[in-house]
Amino acid sequence: MKQDLLKEVKRSFKKKFKKEPLLVFSPGRINIIGEHTDYNGGFVFPAAVDKGIAAAIEKSDTGKSTAIALDLDSNIEFDLNNLKPSKQGSWENYVFGVVAEIQNRNKVIGDFNIVFKGNIPGGAGMSSSAALENSVVYGLNELFDLGLTKTEMILISQKAEHNYVGVKCGIMDQYASMFGIQDNALLLDCRTIESTPYKIDFKDHQLLLINTNVKHSLSDSAYNDRRSACESIAELLGVNTLRDASEEDLEKIIDKVTPENYQKALYVIQEIARTQKAAQAITDNDLEKLGALIYASHNGLQHQYKVSCDELDFLVNQAKKNKSVLGARMMGGGFGGCTINLIERDKVQEFAESAAKAYKNKFNKECSVYFIELSEGTHVVK
Ligand code: GLA
Repeated sequence: MKQDLLKEVKRSFKKKFKKEPLLVFSPGRINIIGEHTDYNGGFVFPAAVDKGIAAAIEKSDTGKSTAIALDLDSNIEFDLNNLKPSKQGSWENYVFGVVAEIQNRNKVIGDFNIVFKGNIPGGAGMSSSAALENSVVYGLNELFDLGLTKTEMILISQKAEHNYVGVKCGIMDQYASMFGIQDNALLLDCRTIESTPYKIDFKDHQLLLINTNVKHSLSDSAYNDRRSACESIAELLGVNTLRDASEEDLEKIIDKVTPENYQKALYVIQEIARTQKAAQAITDNDLEKLGALIYASHNGLQHQYKVSCDELDFLVNQAKKNKSVLGARMMGGGFGGCTINLIERDKVQEFAESAAKAYKNKFNKECSVYFIELSEGTHVVK
């Protein structure tokens, strides 16, 4: 799959630009647990997957730059010295944003051409956006010898998303996509941006994604609103981020916040704790415990943080009815995208089929099932 994508972007680059390109693969991510905790300085537990964005990139000597999104059959020419964000929701903002943020760091790049294509659907909660941003910054760093570290690169990708795409995202997606390790998930401390790898081998269990095919749109103010609600509560508490607050601290200001925002902050504090407990459960090989934490995470996302939707809740309820599923929850920003399920290996087909059938009956549309492998982060492909 990944090889086919790479071949395709290479072929189409050579056809269009008559040059041999540099090939970069940048993966999407899953997240076992720890949702909406990254921008609160908390813990997350993501892993890069074997699906993502393949990019073919090379310097241009025609005096202009071109980006081509093969999936969308869309291309755009641009002038490096005159960049501004395109209309909200345009794919080129990911490319422009990265270029602009590189320039903001006083790094000099020349004209370039890029052709890319992905095999994770946008809006699935698997970070196709971070994968694209990372492929661009990684490719440009190589081509123009910018000497950026991986951490600098992900901060550039994140800023691109803030300033050009308009989503005030945390660092989880860019981090997981860049730093992924094969067969490992990363317990990332978003305060220090340092992670501990955890080898994931669930023996007779595995992770399975089911996409509601409801496209979320993070640039919807919903995401940014939640972030600013968390920040204002942190300010009230006199701490940098909610990571530094306890449930007891929060209780002391209960009269100063709305009940809705109180629940949101409580969710964040609890989810940060759950994520650390999940890491311990994995170390102890206690999958029942891990599963229970995953269900609790969904419960909080649905009722306290309020970022789920009927389709996601329905799939999680299907999982709960099935003994072979130890845990399930919505994954990523929310309002659509995938559920992640911790399920008995032998029962995967059966569950996937029955969930898909029930989903179709209920919503009169299809969901999609994804099998994933935990894979290495953004890299050049020789
Ligand atoms: C999106 C953002 C991440 C993170 C998740 C929710 O994927 O890009 O930074 O906040 O939502 O956990």
